Amino acid sequence: MLTFSHVDFKYYNQPVFTDLNLQINEGEFVFLIGKSGIGKSTLLQLIYMNLLPQSGYVQFDKFSSETIKTKDLPYLRRKLGIVFQDFQLLEDRTVYDNLAFVLQVTGCPRKIIKKKVYHALSEVGLTHKQTNMPKELSGGEQQRVAIARAIINEPLLILADEPTGNLDPETAQEILDILKKINSRGTAVLFATHNYDLVRKFDTKIIKLENGKAVKVILKKKEEEKL
Ligand SMILES: Nc1ncnc2c1ncn2[C@@H]1O[C@H](COP(=O)(O)OP(=O)(O)OP(=O)(O)O)[C@@H](O)[C@H]1O
Ligand SMILES: [Mg+2]
Repeated sequence: MLTFSHVDFKYYNQPVFTDLNLQINEGEFVFLIGKSGIGKSTLLQLIYMNLLPQSGYVQFDKFSSETIKTKDLPYLRRKLGIVFQDFQLLEDRTVYDNLAFVLQVTGCPRKIIKKKVYHALSEVGLTHKQTNMPKELSGGEQQRVAIARAIINEPLLILADEPTGNLDPETAQEILDILKKINSRGTAVLFATHNYDLVRKFDTKIIKLENGKAVKVILKKKEEEKL
């Protein structure tokens, strides 16, 4: 579903990735770890093709960084759900309208929008907050709205960039549990984080970025393999 093949990426003259290779399969849950500034957010941007590699390629679903056109980007991004540390909700719209907006731009009929918004909000336990404005919600609730927004197009992959960074440990665990539940229904999740406490508790695939070069998969049972 997602492949990085011999990816080189630099910002101007600053190299971030050199010969980076990795793969994520349909339905996987993967943590992306590595120290601050190593390139986690950059890697996510290469997946939604906000950035393109200077050499090598990124392949996601039927889209390749080598051939993607600007007009294809909205179609690529409908297959991705993106969740950020700072939620990035539209502050001047209700929770309902934040979610409906994503579907309105695709020309989805109103009746179906209503059904999908309700379904997405019920996945995160927030149907009772439909008419509230984002600032009337707690940080954890706002992040749950952002997750509902991310799943509304039934994406293949959710990209979460430090989604628990602004939350207390208990709320962070709740957000992880929601993403695990969504993953158990078949949606792949790539969860970038510094929060090793969360990572340690959960037996799953971990991709570690090191020196902007090596990518390792570390399995809980201390197995280590190079991709
Ligand atoms: N737009 C940009 N222009 C130039 N350099 C950038 C840009 N964005 C990021 N960088 C640099 O690229 C490197 C990787 O940054 P990135 O944001 O991907 O790291 P990160 O692993 O997400 O860090 P953090 O854990 O702090 O979020 C850093 O050295 C950063 O300074
Ligand atoms: Mg980052």
